[in-house]
Amino acid sequence: YVIGVDLGTSAVKVLLVDRNGRVKADCSESYPLYHDRSGYSEQNPEDWVGKTLAALKKLIQKSGVRPDAVKGLSFSGQMHGLVLLDEQARPLRRAILWNDTRTSEECREIEAVIGKDSLLAICKNRALEGFTLPKLLWVKKHEPDLYKRARVFLLPKDYVRFRLTGQIAMDYSDAAGTLLLDIAKKVWSSDLLEKLGLDSHICPPLVESEAFVGTIRPEVAEETGLSTTTKVFAGGADNACGAVGAGVLSEGKTMCSIGTSGVVLSYESTGERVFSGEVHYFNHAKPGAYYLMGVTLAAGYSLDWFRSTFDGDISFGELVKQAVGVPVGARGLLFTPYLVGERTPHADGDIRGSFIGIDASHTKWEFARAVIEGITFSLHESIEILKQSGKSVESVVSIGGGAKSGEWLQIQADVFDAAVVKLKNEQGPGMGAAMIAACGCGWFDSLEECAAAFVQVGQVIQPRPESVEQYRQLFAVYRDVYENTRALS
Ligand code: XUL
Repeated sequence: YVIGVDLGTSAVKVLLVDRNGRVKADCSESYPLYHDRSGYSEQNPEDWVGKTLAALKKLIQKSGVRPDAVKGLSFSGQMHGLVLLDEQARPLRRAILWNDTRTSEECREIEAVIGKDSLLAICKNRALEGFTLPKLLWVKKHEPDLYKRARVFLLPKDYVRFRLTGQIAMDYSDAAGTLLLDIAKKVWSSDLLEKLGLDSHICPPLVESEAFVGTIRPEVAEETGLSTTTKVFAGGADNACGAVGAGVLSEGKTMCSIGTSGVVLSYESTGERVFSGEVHYFNHAKPGAYYLMGVTLAAGYSLDWFRSTFDGDISFGELVKQAVGVPVGARGLLFTPYLVGERTPHADGDIRGSFIGIDASHTKWEFARAVIEGITFSLHESIEILKQSGKSVESVVSIGGGAKSGEWLQIQADVFDAAVVKLKNEQGPGMGAAMIAACGCGWFDSLEECAAAFVQVGQVIQPRPESVEQYRQLFAVYRDVYENTRALS
């Protein structure tokens, strides 16, 4: 067996997977988010460790497998979050997460000092609030005494892996989201560090996702029931692992993942191209590969906001079921999902969402349908950018909460005007992490070979020409809403 640990924003999910890719058992434990001020989003690294150990313990108990039958373990993790450690490798403060937006000033500073074009040439990305570098600069400016005590920074799953093994490391796919990595050369950019006055010792050693990092420490084995012989492999960023789990491992493959945030991701074989920075360009968990990605900050979050604000008693599944009963276009109601600003394509932390075209006869279900369509339109903006950059998007593997409803999958197919693939027994990024462990253990020669054995297509949903045309017209209106509502923010 191998274990995939998916350290998410709301919970950690652990999967026990056999040599054929079948899930033998799974467990999940949640932890709190702290929003002390508007725009702040933090978590306590000790919560991640405690809950991961608790989930692993339950997994071993529940499955009844012999601990030494677990040959490997690897990680998928929420990206970008800053974990700062002191000389004794203790966290100096709570982690500042990917969805924390306090760093607009630092982003402007980075682009002014480095220059937008140089930044794009080195990091392939623009300076955005979510990334790690602006968070480091924020701590340096606002908490200088604490910054002086910082020995090294890690990303969320790297800290949990460190606590399991005692070894400090970061893989390229997650390091790519720090804005400090030279993406093509796969080294920390000394140029950026120097110009921004950061010490290079603060950057951890870099490894491949499949790299063997260490074995389970005896104290952890004792607490969880895991064996000290289980090998731990580095793992990757959640989006990279989601792509591995969805089999997005060659040119022409695209994934749409709808969770709290939404992502459209397309495989890219080289790190040498320069795009305009509208979509992210990161190292893949597959060695030597890359991906392009657009992000909708409030995807599932928008629907959950709608549910909890207007009908807290209804379940998520029931809300989606009622909403998809409404015809295409929600009878003239349009929604933009900018509840917490937007990443792609606007990179605008201040813009806010809207409902447009409200009629006195509209019901709650039409509003809910408009929310689902608005989220899908936002993801389609990323697809359009990918197409403009030369990617062909003929089919899209859909994963996450948005793939649970057949009707929402149909909406994706109609809005994207592409075939949408639903996987059999999809497990998200945790399965990608398990596949990395399976390759690390030597069960397969490559992730592609592992995907051929583990990833199975369940259903292919084709776009319906009539709805495609209706959505094409609505999307043209949707696109204009951003410019026309900016003044409100
Ligand atoms: C990607 C991003 C999110 C997080 C969610 O850039 O910020 O998708 O990775 O965990």
